[in-house]
Amino acid sequence: EKAKQQSLTDVLARAADFYKAQLRKSPRAVAYLKGRGLTGQIAARFGLGYAPEGWRSLASGFPSYDDPQLVESGLVITPDVEPGEDAKRYDRFRDRVMFPIRNVQGEVIGFGGRVLDKGEPKYLNSPETPVFHKGRELYGLYEARTGLRQRGYALVVEGYMDVVALAQHGFDNAVATLGTACTADHVHKLFRFTESVVFSFDGDAAGRRAAVRALEAALPHATETRTVRFLFLPPEHDPDSYVRDLGAEAFERCVEGAVPLSRQLYTVASEGCDLGTPEGRARMLKQAHPLWSLLPEGLLRRQLLGDLARQGQMAEVELQALWLGEPAAAA
Ligand code: GTP
Ligand code: MN
Ligand code: MN
Ligand code: MN
Ligand code: MN
Repeated sequence: EKAKQQSLTDVLARAADFYKAQLRKSPRAVAYLKGRGLTGQIAARFGLGYAPEGWRSLASGFPSYDDPQLVESGLVITPDVEPGEDAKRYDRFRDRVMFPIRNVQGEVIGFGGRVLDKGEPKYLNSPETPVFHKGRELYGLYEARTGLRQRGYALVVEGYMDVVALAQHGFDNAVATLGTACTADHVHKLFRFTESVVFSFDGDAAGRRAAVRALEAALPHATETRTVRFLFLPPEHDPDSYVRDLGAEAFERCVEGAVPLSRQLYTVASEGCDLGTPEGRARMLKQAHPLWSLLPEGLLRRQLLGDLARQGQMAEVELQALWLGEPAAAA
């Protein structure tokens, strides 16, 4: 099993080298990346590449295009055919800028590929393989290891381009989920590298929805020492466009203004509640309960209980009795 995974990552590493070499030969792809404000240095740091237009470009990068490993690694597609028919294999990634995805050991485990101009889908990812599990991996984590230590926090963003553009502007501590929602597994993994996580969201409705899911993913790992904050950009921006249009200092101020998890929990719980009425306060507490329950035992959990009681205008001991099952009379 280990040996099989090793040979898959060897194939993927070889493909990454191939795509890198192709980028150097494609003025169009280089112009695309330059047009997005990236230098050759940053492109090299992330190992960016280019998958050429042809249907079987990888054939020139590998000894045999028939190698089953090419299919198993997700680089080559074999269409389903009737028995006896000839299955025409072809490259999954064609005419795309390639973002190699590395695991924390630095091995290439998959790719994201972006179209150069209009085209669908905008991004194409490697499929799930024995070495690539989207729900567990974070794009940019390997490249961010040093940045995480130096800056002391991780920025969690939405896209590949956000990670690379932030690095271009000095934020070498950004990671992205791979087109999936952030899970508790992702957060758990991040806290192995840093004590502080800052989620960045677009300021639109989709961003606010993503923030609710991120809150749920973060709560099980939040403590008095492991902090989580939420940053909301203006609706028209993502981190890439923001840092390019307004600069690193402006983005730095956004990070400083990020709201703590406790405030975000309260904001989410009070959604649609008129806190000027007992009904609204009761509803806020009802909505807060399942979120608060996700917190691990400890000081932060106790603190939040007290805070929510005050915000709901309720005696703390009574909320304790309700949420912790401790008899109110005892206190
Ligand atoms: P740019 O247009 O290059 O700036 O990309 P973006 O990162 O701003 O794209 P967007 O905000 O639309 O999407 C964020 C992330 O969602 C991307 O980085 C991808 O991981 C994922 N994503 C976006 N579009 C697609 C798609 O068409 N298919 C898949 N599978 N994932 C996508
Ligand atoms: Mn855990
Ligand atoms: Mn958006
Ligand atoms: Mn975006
Ligand atoms: Mn973008």
